[in-house]
Amino acid sequence: MRQGSYACRFPALSVPVALYLTVLSLLLLITPSIAWRPWPNHQTNGSDPIYGASKKYEGSSEFVHLKYHMGPVLTANITVHTIWYGTWAKAQKKIIREFISSFSAVNSKPPSVAQWWKTVRLYTDQTGANITRSVVLGAEKNDRFYSHGKSLTRLSIQSVIKSAVTANTKPLPINAQNGLYLLLTSADVYVQDFCGQVCGFHYFTFPSIVGYTLPYAWVGNSAKQCPGVCAYPFAVPDYIPGLKPLKAPNGDVGVDGMISVIGHEIAELATNPLVNAWYAGQDPSFPVEIADLCEGIYGTGGGGSYTGQLTEDGDGATYNINGIRRRFLVQWVWNHVVSYCTGPNALDQ
Ligand SMILES: *[C@@H]1O[C@H](CO)[C@@H](O)[C@H](O)[C@H]1NC(C)=O
Ligand SMILES: *[C@@H]1O[C@H](CO)[C@@H](O)[C@H](O)[C@H]1NC(C)=O
Ligand SMILES: *[C@@H]1O[C@H](CO)[C@@H](O)[C@H](O)[C@H]1NC(C)=O
Repeated sequence: MRQGSYACRFPALSVPVALYLTVLSLLLLITPSIAWRPWPNHQTNGSDPIYGASKKYEGSSEFVHLKYHMGPVLTANITVHTIWYGTWAKAQKKIIREFISSFSAVNSKPPSVAQWWKTVRLYTDQTGANITRSVVLGAEKNDRFYSHGKSLTRLSIQSVIKSAVTANTKPLPINAQNGLYLLLTSADVYVQDFCGQVCGFHYFTFPSIVGYTLPYAWVGNSAKQCPGVCAYPFAVPDYIPGLKPLKAPNGDVGVDGMISVIGHEIAELATNPLVNAWYAGQDPSFPVEIADLCEGIYGTGGGGSYTGQLTEDGDGATYNINGIRRRFLVQWVWNHVVSYCTGPNALDQ
């Protein structure tokens, strides 16, 4: 593992690309980290139920060279250890816990979160073992008093994880084989590059800081800082006139927006935990991973600023998949078998 060489590099990113493309067309402003991404042809015809999903990659799927780089993937049952950094309401925690518990809830009404996870399970390691079916909640840690302040850097995030696994009382278990560490920051916490370039990212901890190599992800609640970027489409940026936000399925714009980012990061952690397994692009320090390839796509015909075909519930809230007791809006992920983005709510499945 050449982890030293990644120390100062960018982990995998997560930002609604659709939004950036809108920004591009409106303001001719785009961050260099986004500009080169292999994004599909945006002239998708969403009304075509047969070819809608695949057509959007017409002419571009040969441009997506997703490759396996021989590293491990998460084939063992995944236990998600959550660190709640800052101020979290019970109701907010419940939404996120129920989303994570839905990954393995095979009895949820289709299209379900568990069916969404099936696309991730199509990825294997060198031995041909698939990503695990089982994703469960593990021990949690509250960091209510902002142990490392209200402004975190990429490196201080690792110190927060270190504090959680070395705490005097109820430390999180060290579980390098099965554990996935999810750091969630409340709406009043600023994280380096949050909003400008990322809504979340994943990487692994450095033994020199944490004492172990643990796969982790960070996702922030954007409600107060940039909901129009990171909780899109439940909030929209002011500079796009006439664009109306969709109603969030669990009534919390920031948290409902985090759900898709959490799904994005867990899917990428599972397929690329040490950043040497499944990714596209030539540069391992800047991998394009299975969820990056499908950012902004939640349904058939999605691409550009269009989310794709979604479902509206009786209260007018918008979602695409069912979980335990709740509904969620979660982006699709790249399916390497068919070479396009897929999700269980596709109209052509
Ligand atoms: C989209 O496809 C439908 C039928 O496949 C067609 O009737 C319609 O004109 C197309 N719309 C655009 C904008 O191409
Ligand atoms: C495991 O991955 C292979 C290769 O993508 C796929 O054909 C198979 O259906 C997957 N198995 C499961 C249980 O998802
Ligand atoms: C993995 O989880 C499944 C349930 O999803 C369980 O049946 C199995 O025993 C677990 N395997 C291990 C090694 O813990």
